Amino acid sequence: MFQRFAILLCAVVLGCAAVFLFLRKEKTAKNVAPTILFPVGPTVHIPAPLGLPPVPIPADNPPTAPTIALGRRLFYDTILSADNKVSCSTCHSPQHGFSDIRPVSLGIQQKAGTRNSLTALNAAYFHQEFWDGRAASLEAQVEGPVQNPVEMGETFQGVEKKLNADPSYRAQFAQAWGPGPIQFQMVGKSIASFERTLVSGNSPFDRWKYGHDESAVSAAVKRGFVVFTAKEKGNCASCHSVGANDALFTDNKFHNIGVGVDFGKFKDDGLFAVTHNPADRGKFKTPSLRNIALTAPYMHDGSMKTLKEVMDFYIGGGNSNPNLDSEVHKLDFLTRQERSDLLDFMNALTGEMPPNSGPPPVESMTASR
Ligand code: HEC
Ligand code: HEC
Repeated sequence: MFQRFAILLCAVVLGCAAVFLFLRKEKTAKNVAPTILFPVGPTVHIPAPLGLPPVPIPADNPPTAPTIALGRRLFYDTILSADNKVSCSTCHSPQHGFSDIRPVSLGIQQKAGTRNSLTALNAAYFHQEFWDGRAASLEAQVEGPVQNPVEMGETFQGVEKKLNADPSYRAQFAQAWGPGPIQFQMVGKSIASFERTLVSGNSPFDRWKYGHDESAVSAAVKRGFVVFTAKEKGNCASCHSVGANDALFTDNKFHNIGVGVDFGKFKDDGLFAVTHNPADRGKFKTPSLRNIALTAPYMHDGSMKTLKEVMDFYIGGGNSNPNLDSEVHKLDFLTRQERSDLLDFMNALTGEMPPNSGPPPVESMTASR
């Protein structure tokens, strides 16, 4: 009797173990990286405007007309947020150079973040996204705001569910990605392809420097360019790089210029949060200065309201702290003329807004809602 009971118990235990192992396998199978999805249809060429290098395109996400159109619709649609009230364009508004006029952005339920919105213009050229470089690509970047509790506060599943329930989105996704359920990967890749079209160049500066049109800018702007680039003057281009054939006005690197340092204390650790290297405390990505006149306020914490304020900060030699970059030093020797030329130069960096970058026609947004 006891033997039979023991055998039965053994069988039950083994059975349970088998079921457990099977379920675990199922679960790990679900956790493996999703297959890489490719858009259907022919790849389109995204032309780079005067002053900018060719737009970098990742091998696994060639842009197509349907993915760009879909990404544009998603960028302006509040469907990506938990309360259906916040879109990417809430904090990256085309009226403000695809940036935000608030020092720190407000997301769902008006919750405030801690950093100033970066422009989505020309983000295609940055090697790493965000002030601290924590996203390696535009595709990966999209995952940040969607899930951030103070930005859009949604989940991938939540977004997938809402989009799959919308017939007009289902049709548009099928056109861009082929038949089958909508997956979040398609959302990230479509928005990234749209963002690759948000390239803005052909500014007065570009028409002068790279288009060789002497009348494109004033004499003050030309003098300001010298102040900006010369090592013994502003030395700005040592980080905000200017090339022989094009200019991104960023070295795609991270530096500490002392913003947000309060009596030697860092209010925001910057790159340190990603690398955990103490020397990276207070380092932030060099932002591009293209369209800088459109994207006030300035710096990662939005603490400077005007370009004049930024300039005064640099003239004072940044904020002293142990990690202050050796390229930052007092510029109090710059004459009044040189200071005003430098400002004129920065104001000549406003480029043309890319075509078809505003919200898509209303019918395509509200077809089903
Ligand atoms: C609530 C405001 C808010 C929303 C909504 C939002 N962003 Fe942002 N975005 C920001 C802020 C703030 C930063 C800078 C944050 C940081 O660096 O830590 C940023 C950074 C970025 C960057 C990095 C640019 C660079 O130079 O590194 C890109 C690209 C971007 N956002 C695109 C998007 C897209 C696409 C969406 C929609 C899926 C979106 N954002 C939604 C506020 C927002
Ligand atoms: C050592 C590298 C370095 C040098 C030199 C430098 N910058 Fe910067 N610049 C940065 C970094 C990094 C930031 C962002 C800092 C932050 O937010 O903490 C920045 C921010 C800015 C901003 C604000 C951009 C925005 O989108 O908010 C402007 C404008 C600017 N710099 C202009 C200049 C000018 C003009 C000079 C020369 C007088 C100069 N920079 C020299 C690295 C540098």
